[in-house]
Amino acid sequence: DGFSAARLFSQGVSYTYDDVIFLPGFIDFPADAVDLSTRLSRRVPLSIPCVASPMDTVSEAAMAAAMASLGGVAVVHSNTEPRAQASIVRAAKSRRLPFVSSVPIFSPAPVSEYMRPAPRSASASFDFEQAAALLADEGLDYAPLVSEEGEVIDLITSKDVERIRSYPKLGKPSLGADGKFVVAASIGTREDDKRRLEQLIQAGANAIVIDSSQGNSTYQLDMIKYAKKTFPEVDLIGGNVVTIGQAQNLIAAGVDGLRVGMGSGSICTTQEVCAVGRGQATAVYKVASYAKDHNVPVIADGGISYSGHIVKALSLGASTVMMGSFLAGSHEAPGAYEYKDGHRVKKYRGMGSLEAMTKGSDARYLGDTLKLKVAQGVVGAVADKGSVLRFIPYTMQAVKQGFQDLGASSLQSAHDLLRAETLRLEVRTGAAQVEGGIHGLVSYEKKSF
Ligand code: XMP
Repeated sequence: DGFSAARLFSQGVSYTYDDVIFLPGFIDFPADAVDLSTRLSRRVPLSIPCVASPMDTVSEAAMAAAMASLGGVAVVHSNTEPRAQASIVRAAKSRRLPFVSSVPIFSPAPVSEYMRPAPRSASASFDFEQAAALLADEGLDYAPLVSEEGEVIDLITSKDVERIRSYPKLGKPSLGADGKFVVAASIGTREDDKRRLEQLIQAGANAIVIDSSQGNSTYQLDMIKYAKKTFPEVDLIGGNVVTIGQAQNLIAAGVDGLRVGMGSGSICTTQEVCAVGRGQATAVYKVASYAKDHNVPVIADGGISYSGHIVKALSLGASTVMMGSFLAGSHEAPGAYEYKDGHRVKKYRGMGSLEAMTKGSDARYLGDTLKLKVAQGVVGAVADKGSVLRFIPYTMQAVKQGFQDLGASSLQSAHDLLRAETLRLEVRTGAAQVEGGIHGLVSYEKKSF
């Protein structure tokens, strides 16, 4: 019944996630038993398949600490000076708590009148439970978080403890061989990105993403060769690609991971502006089926609006999903909340928007020294979603339920079902898509958890 992915995706049609639907399989395990552990790249394991996109309205220190504490990872964006980007990586890696607050720094003069001279402090190496126990045991409202070098890096308050206790229990965090949070970072392909790369590696970045909208270029191949030769110990992720041909070149050059997607992002206009790209379901399936034979994990980048899209991306062969808009309205995304038409929102912008390109991200879209800048993205806003520490666990529970319906008890088992052609799917007509969404109601309240 239904079609195999191999047959469905070989008919000259570009499909997005919404175009396709899986047929249910056989369930012989509870949803909680589904194992979502995976790899970002060859040597970077994760316990959940979630990656925050290298965008300046998504991934800075707070997102990186939160994603790592959930078992995922964030890729710190490079739309800033190399030194500033490296210090964001350091900030996220300097703690074991799932949050980063910005502590205002003052000189001792006015502060000494109000504060105790040597308040009880918590070590930056404390995890959440250790820090919470310190506050509770000593009856403290707050404690400064102090690094090994004796520097105050943050503050933990009893309010933080209360807030985080109200979220689902944290699972296994992403920790590197150094015992610190796993944090990735992006670079471009210009000559001065070699210096950026060095600074990021010194800051402890566990993986480097070469950020380009069309990764199959001499610029990227040169950077891959340079980075693999100079820093062979760090995983290198290439992209973006959407075809087997592009993937072949980057894999041959030595990448440890591939980022897949062109024009599928919510803020992207690449397909409209450049007429190049591919439907994301087709792109993920094609590239992943090739990359699997070379043991190169695939990141399905862009176009994730809800948990079903994550189930589709992973079942079509991806090892992780990279998300921008899904995370941009969170408490952990950079920037302050604003009010628009009565809604609490956060700004979210494409890195190819004119506004972002004035800060330097034009390298991702232009790759060379073009003087006239044409936007390939827009500036927008997304609704407040609260903390990723709350909504990502619920999203992962929904993904587990999807895997259970498919009869896949792990990512590996989903990939095996795909390969064995046991996983069956079909294309949805326009009417089937309408039927599959909420319809026929005069009004409704959309609350998922
Ligand atoms: P989502 O759908 O998660 O997509 O918001 C995030 C991904 O979109 C890509 N990206 C862009 N693509 N113009 C583009 O064509 C842009 O300005 C732009 N900014 C980001 C990127 O791959 C990101 O991870």
